Amino acid sequence: MNHIINLCKNRGFVFAGSEIYGGLANTWDYGPLGVELKNNIKREWWKWFVQENDNSVGLDGGIFLNPKVWIASGHVSSFSDPLMDCKACKTRHRADKLIEVASKGKVNPDNKSNEWLEKWIAENGVKCPICGKIEWTPIRQFNLMFKTQRGVIEGGTDDLIYMRPETAQNQFVDYQNVQRSMRLRVPFGIGQIGKAFRNEITPGNFIFRVIEFEQMEHQFFCREKESEKAYKEYKAKAMDFYTQRLNLNKKKLRFKDHENLCHYAKMACDMEYEFPFGFGEIGGTHHRGTWDLGQHQKVSGKNLEYTDPVTNEKFLPTVIESSHGCDRLFLAVISDAYEEQKLDKDDTRIVLHFHPRLAPYKVCVLPLQKKEQGEAADKIYRDLSKHFMATYDETGSIGKRYRRQDEIGTPFCVTVDFETEKDESVTVRDRDSMKQERIKIKDLVAYVGEKIK
Ligand code: GAP
Repeated sequence: MNHIINLCKNRGFVFAGSEIYGGLANTWDYGPLGVELKNNIKREWWKWFVQENDNSVGLDGGIFLNPKVWIASGHVSSFSDPLMDCKACKTRHRADKLIEVASKGKVNPDNKSNEWLEKWIAENGVKCPICGKIEWTPIRQFNLMFKTQRGVIEGGTDDLIYMRPETAQNQFVDYQNVQRSMRLRVPFGIGQIGKAFRNEITPGNFIFRVIEFEQMEHQFFCREKESEKAYKEYKAKAMDFYTQRLNLNKKKLRFKDHENLCHYAKMACDMEYEFPFGFGEIGGTHHRGTWDLGQHQKVSGKNLEYTDPVTNEKFLPTVIESSHGCDRLFLAVISDAYEEQKLDKDDTRIVLHFHPRLAPYKVCVLPLQKKEQGEAADKIYRDLSKHFMATYDETGSIGKRYRRQDEIGTPFCVTVDFETEKDESVTVRDRDSMKQERIKIKDLVAYVGEKIK
């Protein structure tokens, strides 16, 4: 994990947030290459869940919603973590995480009561992971939503607003606007990508657990009778997205069906990826029933029923949610792509084997010698830049330049050499096989474009 974190920092993928001020726990910034990789992941998600998904449309809802939304959704009353303080060293911990670690993942503390968690911790003598003492306070629930103040008067409860802890609620509160304006008929889907905020206190494992992150969520609105089939289909669709579009290694992916369901969920599962630190949740498929629309109907007083234009039947659609964390998928894609490859006895290279679709730069143009081929290479670079994210490197030996591109996962290096002027061709080196082939300059765009597909 440390090798990946160092590479991310040194090669412009991810930096510690506010680093010059000593950082801010669980915050990170995406650098020039990080933003490209992240955008490529989001583009693939949008294509899979919106563009190529029948009857699906997009939405970009606001981060701030009327606070009543969060009362209706249950977040104000119950979106909280069970926290315990260590009286000896004054550190704060999540009781469920303490149990997960102490039981080595054998005990699932999800949705257990606080009494149950406290009893398990006491009976099993769970020690503070920081100081090793057993001096726990009772559990207190800690709401994960960030609160802020609207307007100028501080402290007034009327001005209290929340930063959304999930993007899903935008899709529920806007569902009727979307359905009517787009003349959609149930079943249909709404996809959205956007920031969500959670006041996480546990250490984050790099970008795995952060306080500000991006979710990619799709809500499928259907009839109750078609919902079980849709749930299974969306479960499979998520796995296909990970393996076919993000090219994640199937052996490192698994489903984890929820044993203890939330009160409203009929079926739910997490999708997990095996990170260098172990399996962690990257997404989930949730059968949310009519819970969210029902709650918003009740609290807003607005009729949110859908009327079937043929049968005139009125009903609240059932929702199947496909939810994915962009930052966690970013980490999964990098972990999957990372290799320290032994070449010869003393020679190792670091390679990020991104699929060309996901690679931040698709191609790098290199003049063999700056003085001789600099001008020609610059022209090729400018032409390629019109079609793809391309980069240019003229410093250091050609071998070193190839290695630099391997480390950031650029799939193709185009070398302009002494022959180029004569044969109007360049050498294209493949990152993974390191094989080289001669390609006509006029065919370069088509060549790279085909590989990206
Ligand atoms: N709308 C359903 C929902 O929000 P969730 O399991 O709480 O479900 C969905 O979150 C996804 O968002 C997770 O699978 C994970 O990938 C991502 N996620 C949640 N909390 C996160 C955090 N603190 N940091 C990074 N990603 C997070």
